Amino acid sequence: PVNLKGRSLLTLKDFTAEEIKYLLNLAFDLKAKKRAGLRQELLKGKNIVLIFDKTSTRTRTAFEVAAYDEGAHVTFLTNSQMGKKESIEDTAKVLGRMYDGIEYRGYKQEVVEALAKYSGVPVWNGLTDEAHPTQGLADVMTMMEFIHKPLNQMKLVFVGDTRNNVANTLMRISSKLGIHYVAVGPESLKPSDEIMNEALENAKESGAIIEYTPDLDGVKGADAIYTDVWVSMGEEDKMPERVELLTPYRVDMNLIKRTENPNVIFLHCLPSFHDFETTVAKEAKERGLDIREVTDEVFRSKHSKVFDQAENRMHTIKAVMVATL
Ligand code: CP
Ligand code: NVA
Repeated sequence: PVNLKGRSLLTLKDFTAEEIKYLLNLAFDLKAKKRAGLRQELLKGKNIVLIFDKTSTRTRTAFEVAAYDEGAHVTFLTNSQMGKKESIEDTAKVLGRMYDGIEYRGYKQEVVEALAKYSGVPVWNGLTDEAHPTQGLADVMTMMEFIHKPLNQMKLVFVGDTRNNVANTLMRISSKLGIHYVAVGPESLKPSDEIMNEALENAKESGAIIEYTPDLDGVKGADAIYTDVWVSMGEEDKMPERVELLTPYRVDMNLIKRTENPNVIFLHCLPSFHDFETTVAKEAKERGLDIREVTDEVFRSKHSKVFDQAENRMHTIKAVMVATL
C-alpha cells in the first residue's frame, strides 16, 4: 500500500510508478467529489505557505483553491528575507515551525531541496529551472481523460525546447509510466544526457519508448502533441537565438496533420504566446521576433485541451497536498 505522508515532491525522480499512479487516482477521486459538491475538509487545521520567486497564475491559484477547498489556510509569500538577508537554511527552519507544508517556485533546484532538508515539513516544487513535477501530474491526468487507451499504449510528442523544465518532467513521468515519449526539437536543445539516461533506465522497467529526434516526422502517430514557450522564465535574453532555432518547430495545423491521427490532442502548460495579445509578444514583434510557439488556429481548435489541463493543476496539486499531509 502507498503511503506518502510526510514526503516532499521535489522532482518525480523520487517517486515510483505506483506512487505516481496513486496520486493520479486520488486526483480523479477529488475531482469527482468536487463536481458532486462533496466537501471533506481533508486539510482542516493545516497551514501552508506559498513562496514565489517567479511569476505565476495557475500554480498559485491551484494551490490556494485546493487548500481552501479542503479547509487549510494559506500564506502567499513574495519579497521575504529569504536568500537576501537570510539564508535558505534559516528561512526553512523558521517556516517549518509555522507551517505544515511549503510550496516553492523559483530558479535553482537546490533551493527547493534545501527547503525540504531544513524545514522538516513536506515541500512541493511549484517549478524550478529543472523541473515542474505538479505540471507533469496534471498533464498525464488530462491525457487519461481524453486518450482512451492504457498509458503504455499512448504516444506523447513534445515539440520545441525539449530540454526545459516541463519537457524534462514529461520525459521523466512518461518513462516511469510506460508512455512512449518523443522529444522533437533542434539538436542544440535536445534533452540532456543525464535526463535521457535516467529515462532510459526507467524505461527498462516500465517498457516505455523514449526518443529524441530533430525530425518533425517524429510526430507521426502521436496521441498528444505538447509544446511550451521557447524562452522560459529567467532566460529572456535568449529570445533572438530561440526564435531562430525554434521557428521550424512552431505547432501549426500542418504539424497536427502530420500526426496522421484525427483525434490527436494538443497540450500546453500555459501561459502561451499563440497570438500577439500580450505585451511580451507585442514587444518582441516590434523587434522583429515572432515568438508564437503555436498558432492561434491550433490553440483554439477542437484538438486543444489546454484549459482542461489548467483545471487539472488544481485537482492534482490537491492530491499532492492531501497525500503528503
Ligand atoms: N503552467 C504553469 O505553471 O502556469 P503558471 O506559471 O501560471 O503558474
Ligand atoms: N517552461 C516555462 C513553463 C511555465 C509554466 C517556464 O519555465 O517559464
